[in-house]
Amino acid sequence: MPHRVTLLPGDGIGPEVAAAARRVVEATGVEVEWDVQHAGAAVVDAEGTPLPKRVLESIRESRVALKGPITTPVGRGFRSVNVALRQELDLFAAIRPSRSFPGVTTRHPGVDIVVIRENTEDLYQGVEFQRSSPEVARLGEALEELAGFTLRSDAGVTVKPISVTGTRRIVRFALEHARRHGRKRITVGHKANIMKFSDGVFLATALEVADEYPDVEVDEMQVDEMVMWLAWEPELMDVLLLPNLYGDIVSDLCAGLVGGLGLAAGANIGWEYALFEPVHGSAPDIAGKGIANPIAMILSAALMLRHLGRDDAGMAVEAAVAAVLEERSTRTSDMGGTATTEAMADAIVSRLT
Ligand code: NAI
Ligand code: MG
Repeated sequence: MPHRVTLLPGDGIGPEVAAAARRVVEATGVEVEWDVQHAGAAVVDAEGTPLPKRVLESIRESRVALKGPITTPVGRGFRSVNVALRQELDLFAAIRPSRSFPGVTTRHPGVDIVVIRENTEDLYQGVEFQRSSPEVARLGEALEELAGFTLRSDAGVTVKPISVTGTRRIVRFALEHARRHGRKRITVGHKANIMKFSDGVFLATALEVADEYPDVEVDEMQVDEMVMWLAWEPELMDVLLLPNLYGDIVSDLCAGLVGGLGLAAGANIGWEYALFEPVHGSAPDIAGKGIANPIAMILSAALMLRHLGRDDAGMAVEAAVAAVLEERSTRTSDMGGTATTEAMADAIVSRLT
């Protein structure tokens, strides 16, 4: 039986890197039945929404999706498709591994970090009030009454909810992930000293749940101190568990530690569905030129293969990528080379067949 996968090529460089990833998956011999669904900027004018229902329906049926980046139109009143997908499908865990590659020279050679980010709550929940709106005026009245706080009427407000329920599941997920992958330590990042009732819930819940897993060491660190250590001695870090916003920022930082966005893969996982996508965006500055680095998308596809129970194929893809990088002769421009997206895919495919 082939695995059914919804493929969202996405915007900008998305279709270019998606085509490369599809070729690589096919070269592993794993049979996939792709249901290609377009979303994002390409369909907004025709369908009136960047995330048509058919896309969600397809993913609900496939349960697994591979997705290229999707542009978030600035100031057009649309919610980010990426954030909407995570919320609609309840993909509450984002996993972003960053491991040093042989042949990719960076400041820190021995990095092997996994960022696990809560993907649905926090400042990305999408509860916002526009400055000078009637809603902000009413919010101001409530805050005056509840907290004796005078909200400036020209202030925009974004709400930061972090719940025990939302935190428990991501902490359990992180602990199970650590166990399954033989990881020794999880470091919880937070600013619980400042945001006692949001980050405070995250930290307290994490430490409480951690007690049920005596075999995994869990410690905590304020996120500003965490990024200092990541710049200074990232080799010391193992699994980092973070609320949504910090997780977004820290995972890009970790991508930078091992060679940049062109190499950084990601997975968004929920109880029912899983969506695999690179960390990078649609890169409008290089879109259509055929020069984007497809490795982030290809490694996302490798994570997908592992999720489908095809660890053998996932490992083969990762090994092929590592071998091509180690060889140093095929490099896209983000890595200082001149190879095209297609040439990079060719090099990886040739190691699989
Ligand atoms: P970006 O990641 O698209 O680009 C940042 C820089 O990295 C650019 O210089 C770009 O050329 C380069 N870059 C990114 N991926 C590359 C690759 N595979 N190969 C070579 N170079 C690469 O971030 P930016 O410019 O902030 O966002 C562009 C659009 O993408 C925005 O609309 C944003 O909302 C969206 N976005 C979507 C994401 C998703 O679909 N999950 C994630 C991040 C951004
Ligand atoms: Mg990001």
